[in-house]
Amino acid sequence: TRVLFATSEVYPLVKTGGLADVSASLPEALCRLGYDVNILLPGYPSAMAAASRTGTSPLAQFSIDGFNVTLVESRLPGTAVTIWLVDCPQLFGREGNPYQNDQGEDWPDNAQRFKLFAEVGARIAMGQAGLAWCPEIVHCNDWQSALLPVFLQAYPERPGTVFTIHNLAYQGLFPQTTFAALGLPETLWRYDQLEFHGQLSFIKGGLVFSDRITTVSPGYAEEIQTPELGYGLDGLLRYRRPQLSGILNGIDTRTWNPEDDQYLDRHYGRDHLKNKRLCQTALLQTMGLAANGAALLGFIGRLVEQKGLDWLLSVMPPLLERGCQFAILGSGEARFEAPLKELARKWPAHVSLKIGYDEALAHRITAGCDLFLMPSRFEPCGLNQMYSLRYGTIPVVHAVGGLRDTVFDPADTGIDHANGFCFKSPDPVSFLEAVERALDCHKNRKAWRRLQENGMAGDYSWTQSAVHYGELYQGILAERQTPIK
Ligand code: ADP
Ligand code: GLC
Repeated sequence: TRVLFATSEVYPLVKTGGLADVSASLPEALCRLGYDVNILLPGYPSAMAAASRTGTSPLAQFSIDGFNVTLVESRLPGTAVTIWLVDCPQLFGREGNPYQNDQGEDWPDNAQRFKLFAEVGARIAMGQAGLAWCPEIVHCNDWQSALLPVFLQAYPERPGTVFTIHNLAYQGLFPQTTFAALGLPETLWRYDQLEFHGQLSFIKGGLVFSDRITTVSPGYAEEIQTPELGYGLDGLLRYRRPQLSGILNGIDTRTWNPEDDQYLDRHYGRDHLKNKRLCQTALLQTMGLAANGAALLGFIGRLVEQKGLDWLLSVMPPLLERGCQFAILGSGEARFEAPLKELARKWPAHVSLKIGYDEALAHRITAGCDLFLMPSRFEPCGLNQMYSLRYGTIPVVHAVGGLRDTVFDPADTGIDHANGFCFKSPDPVSFLEAVERALDCHKNRKAWRRLQENGMAGDYSWTQSAVHYGELYQGILAERQTPIK
């Protein structure tokens, strides 16, 4: 089966979050299952540069909305997966973040950029790009590719379409004037199509017009159907419930493997955990923290509301008083960076903060910490808790979305089936209480070891989830072949 996988990020070409990880490892897993997957990605400078190191060749040229576009073929580094880059320097030839300038403001022409991206995808999908290859399934991800199913719905002979929600909080909302400026058919301006409370909503296009909607965990699939986490789209999602499902993300188990992680000097595994301690010693040294035998708590992620930074900030002082140490890596909003910096200044031997994006340090923190904290307000899936589980680092998480699908608390399952600690009520008091339970357990060597082993024994690979996506594709194809009576 031929699949066009449209996405705005792919690791290692361009990444702002977990979407990039998934967009690399899911297509690869599908290829291993025998699917013929081509990734479609905007040709940002970092992506074009990475692609040219692997080798590129121009495939086709078009003019869309007055912009010259070249479709360039390359390969996802280290894999057999083909990537097609939409090279349009006027729209995508900007350094840095794919969506924002270096002041953190959205590019003013984002609607035009991702409309053009979708239009290129639609031309490929409808065999109008002069290519020998035509997909049977088009798989879109988040708002940036959500207009693709909209363009395709005009064609009865179109391929099947899947839309995956990685984060419903980002919707691609623009004023009505943008809708008019983009030249989209006026018939789409309806409350049950692209209009959302007077604005143009890209994500609605994907949710309304795709054959199937998926999201990245069963837990989040339920939550987005409620007013609390549905952002006004919960009604639409309830309406589309028969076509909506949650498929848990996997992780790249080759890159994230404590047995031969390229960023670690010492390696370890489930039945030989001894070196984990040495990873901790090295981490303390790298991060300038005192080696005093205290529990080391880690956090890695975007410093934004979603990740529960305010809760983290309120539990840190009492935990520091108890002697805990923190290794924190992330970047994001100044309102979270500033108080973290202040804590690091006040507690130099106990809090180490690295602002920025650092792949190597992310691996070292994951390996070297005792606990990994994820107090996310909401979490569609979350990858870091799975990395931690695999590294014998015990996660303490808010029981939402993918976190509650992957982390199991001894209070719920008994120690034999537990791998971490969860808090259920959305407040810092219950977060603190969960960390304290974890710290108590940490003193009990046998129980702790049990949690670590349970976590490390888990299967976080893509194997199963890729099979689920495959079944979903086959279901659509079967349905589209049966004429509607
Ligand atoms: P989200 O996509 O919401 O940011 P995920 O948990 O799905 O959350 O994925 C985040 C990914 O980005 C993980 O691979 C994580 O290790 C990585 N990451 C986030 N921030 C940083 C950082 N500052 N340095 C290195 N890696 C980071
Ligand atoms: C989003 C979500 C995160 C998820 C990732 C990959 O960025 O915030 O929870 O793991 O997408 O699907």
